Amino acid sequence: MCGIIGYVGTRDVVPVLIGGLKKLEYRGYDSAGIAVVNGEGVEVVRAEGKLSNLESKLGEMELEGTFGMGHTRWATHGKPNENNAHPHRDCTGRVVVIHNGIIENFLPLKQKLQAAGHQFKTETDTEVVAHLIEETMKSGARFVDAVRSALKQIEGHYALVIINGKDPGTIIAAKHGPPLVIGIGENENLVASDVAPLLAYTRNIIYLEDGEYAVVDQKRVQLFDEHDNAVRREPKKILWDAVMAEKEGYRHYMLKEIHEQPRAVRDTFTGRMFEESGDIYFNELELTPAQWSKFRRVHIVACGTSWHAALVGKFLLEEAARIPIEVDYGSEYRYRNPIVDEETLVIGVTQSGETADTIAGMQEAKAKGAQLIAICNVIGSAATRMSQGVIYTNAGPEIGVASTKAFTTQLTAFYLLSLYVRQLRGEPVDDRRYAMHEMRVIPHKIEHLLKTQEKHIERLAHKYSTAQDFLFLGRGVNYPIALEGALKLKEISYIHAEGYPAGEMKHGPIALIDENLPIVAIATHTPVYDKVVSNLQEAKARDGKLIVICDEGDQAIRNLADDVIEIPWTVEPLQPILSVVPTQLLAYYIALRRGADIDQPRNLAKSVTVE
Ligand code: M6R
Repeated sequence: MCGIIGYVGTRDVVPVLIGGLKKLEYRGYDSAGIAVVNGEGVEVVRAEGKLSNLESKLGEMELEGTFGMGHTRWATHGKPNENNAHPHRDCTGRVVVIHNGIIENFLPLKQKLQAAGHQFKTETDTEVVAHLIEETMKSGARFVDAVRSALKQIEGHYALVIINGKDPGTIIAAKHGPPLVIGIGENENLVASDVAPLLAYTRNIIYLEDGEYAVVDQKRVQLFDEHDNAVRREPKKILWDAVMAEKEGYRHYMLKEIHEQPRAVRDTFTGRMFEESGDIYFNELELTPAQWSKFRRVHIVACGTSWHAALVGKFLLEEAARIPIEVDYGSEYRYRNPIVDEETLVIGVTQSGETADTIAGMQEAKAKGAQLIAICNVIGSAATRMSQGVIYTNAGPEIGVASTKAFTTQLTAFYLLSLYVRQLRGEPVDDRRYAMHEMRVIPHKIEHLLKTQEKHIERLAHKYSTAQDFLFLGRGVNYPIALEGALKLKEISYIHAEGYPAGEMKHGPIALIDENLPIVAIATHTPVYDKVVSNLQEAKARDGKLIVICDEGDQAIRNLADDVIEIPWTVEPLQPILSVVPTQLLAYYIALRRGADIDQPRNLAKSVTVE
């Protein structure tokens, strides 16, 4: 996701900003830019693509100053081109903003500001913040007060850094969601999205909390809460090395990415579902009810973890669309001569957007006249370029080979798509409002789950880490989670594991069950809960070791299982987003215990770009 760096002090600011942005490159980006204050003027330089493009531009200029900020952008609103690259400015060019996150209500704010005469130059949601501040300053307000007023008007998730050419030496940094940290130096201060770019200057770091903002100059850092009360917080001394800083202190990228899921899921639904009206809106995918009604079938094509997300997608979409849906592996679809025509909607699901088998399947479908859309995490990737519509999963770059946050954001995308289909079919708006509310609280539920279960799962991992085989069971919407749990375990711990529909166990895998076989089962409350319990009783009767993922407080499961992992209750279609998290943690801690190379498992590549 976007990277942020701001500096005020005595050094030549351009190398500080470029050096800082380089340390943030691991977050992924599609364009970059800096703003440097010189006198009352603010120079903004931006470039599409890699930082080297920005550096080439800067090489042709003489930009001097000791105060400025820089940004790497991972596009959400508007194409990844130079015009949409940050920083963004107001009409005077003096109020300059960089931003990570999504301003949900940017559209009504933009319309109001346009009616008041503001000229917008970009397609971004961010630009609205600069104009809001300008508007308040027009009536004589101080810069800091104008920012306070803007923060009260915007809704959404943001890490914002703002400067004003007329107020040289003051940086304002505000956090509501994405991380922001402040580095306290000697006669210099910095702000950034994480500590990685700050370590060259200081190890004294203040972490901003949600709702807080900081007014930073060369000598002082003042913190305020959302009610504008001053906050006192001592800096923390950070002892991490550069690699640890990129992992934000986590031992592996995989663990960091598991913990990023509340943010990643939130970023995937933010700005797309509007509870008040009950509407779903995708900025890169527009279908009219008439266009939708012409589809007779849907095919979903994917590989690996994305294929498991597709299976959950089938469950959700079939219920919403009431037309047949097939899910295929890319490697099978391309050779099986599928029945596809212009009445077929084909959805390619791929984190990287470059998986050769998925792309080939999508090409096959397109050649046969299908409408093609992609659910993808990487802007500008092959899958997005060939598709007529895209739903981006805003997971941010996933570095661990084992997919985690990409999966839960794909599930989020499918959930939103199923609500969109209901909207296109004219279903009652009240049902969608409730469904949106349940979606909105999911990030808190993931946080709660991580907080209450992680240590317990680590202990379970130690208990079961010497097992040679695992069986994962689930039914209905949780059957794909059994497959995903088994895949995660085998790819990072190298333990053999199989995922099965619980009801299918008696047709074969039951022969494997004895006191040495751990069985991870998902038994949350769904219409088939009682059936799953019966299946577990059958396994218990054969001495299988039951580790059951169940709803909090389920005493019946506690009485039956050897170990339970409790997850918060949610509606059935959202359960996979929660039920998969314990399986990710279990795989992670078992692999850790066995000393495996978790982020780079043997024989695996992050993106499989060959057949
Ligand atoms: O980038 P994609 O989503 O297309 O990748 C598909 C699979 O290669 C990928 O999900 C793979 O299975 C992961 N290593 C699973 O953790």
